[in-house]
Amino acid sequence: MKILVTGGAGFIGSNFIKYYLDAHPEDEVVNLDVLTYAGNLENLKDVEENPQYTFVKGSITDRDLVFDLVKDVDAIVHIAAESHVDRSIMDSGPFVETNVIGTQVLLDAALAHGKKRFHHVSTDEVFGSLGPDDKPFDETTPYAPRNPYSASKAASDHLVRSYFHTHGLPITISNCSNNYGPYQFPEKMIPLFIAKLRAGEKVPVYGDGQQIRDWIHVGDHVRGIDACLQKGELGETYLFGDDNEVRNLDLTKKLIELVGASEDMIEFVKDRPGHDRRYATDSRKAHEQLGWKPEFTFETGLRNTIDWYLANEEWVDRCRSGAYKDYYKKQYGL
Ligand code: NAD
Ligand code: TYD
Repeated sequence: MKILVTGGAGFIGSNFIKYYLDAHPEDEVVNLDVLTYAGNLENLKDVEENPQYTFVKGSITDRDLVFDLVKDVDAIVHIAAESHVDRSIMDSGPFVETNVIGTQVLLDAALAHGKKRFHHVSTDEVFGSLGPDDKPFDETTPYAPRNPYSASKAASDHLVRSYFHTHGLPITISNCSNNYGPYQFPEKMIPLFIAKLRAGEKVPVYGDGQQIRDWIHVGDHVRGIDACLQKGELGETYLFGDDNEVRNLDLTKKLIELVGASEDMIEFVKDRPGHDRRYATDSRKAHEQLGWKPEFTFETGLRNTIDWYLANEEWVDRCRSGAYKDYYKKQYGL
């Protein structure tokens, strides 16, 4: 099988490609990524010599390029997106452009070339914000996104589902909870806080720090994406999460303890506008129908993640300084 992965130079995309090539050494992977600030080809150093792997620099909104690439593949794993909520609050334009229009271009290409298998990677944030006593999100939860990022992802999910019902495009969708793990760009909470603590900087906790996220290790998420592709029922949605609800302030204190810093480094800052209070996921459908279960506990996953960031401080420094862009200029002349 030959698959087109979009957004493969980002956090989840690069973890997915490395996992996939290892799990399916006979398959080919084409990685289409426009290399925004979040795209880092250093993440893929381990596979860049692999003859089964090809990188193409370009945008999923480029219709001619996308149609050309989709022609030659058997399936699409759509991971590319603008992914950071805070950036979507500052400027929602690129979110609509990539997450909505880009998804539409990919769907049109999949349809035009004989209804290619399409797996869409999405987020639990499309379901909005839970109250303290609400039951976790599941596949029947109505959509209620509350920030431009989650609204653009919700729009993309609706489009993907509509191509199944209207055109019979063979799709699956996965909505996953907050990921953590190696190669996450240090703008998201966990890598940002580790990087700041290592640099002796205070960590900015938004609002009262009582917001809850359900954390899952990226290694478990990418196995789930593959399970959808191999075993997912067409037209269906699967939620991935890890029953791991943690308050931001508790997580901050845990990170401080693991890095060996002091709680004096916590700085409460102005809350994010429209900040979702709580996310929680019920992944029983994925357990039962895909045979998928998380392998990391939060303890082992977080330890593994901290160890990785401590062992890869140069990667973090290059992300923070922007020097990581030199790597692909040198390597690929881009
Ligand atoms: P990321 O920001 O780390 O990576 C996104 C990648 O997409 C980057 O390599 C970027 O260059 C690429 N990209 C952006 N616009 C593009 C375009 N127009 N054309 C081609 N490539 C483009 O994001 P991530 O955290 O790896 O998230 C990946 C996907 O997983 C997103 O769809 C996101 O909604 C979803 N998701 C993320 C999480 C999470 O916790 N990070 C949780 C659930 C779902
Ligand atoms: P983030 O990693 O941005 O993921 P998301 O917004 O998609 O859940 O944020 C995780 C949580 O941490 C979220 O409740 C916002 C909070 N947060 C802070 O308190 N300070 C920060 O500097 C960041 C980036 C996030």
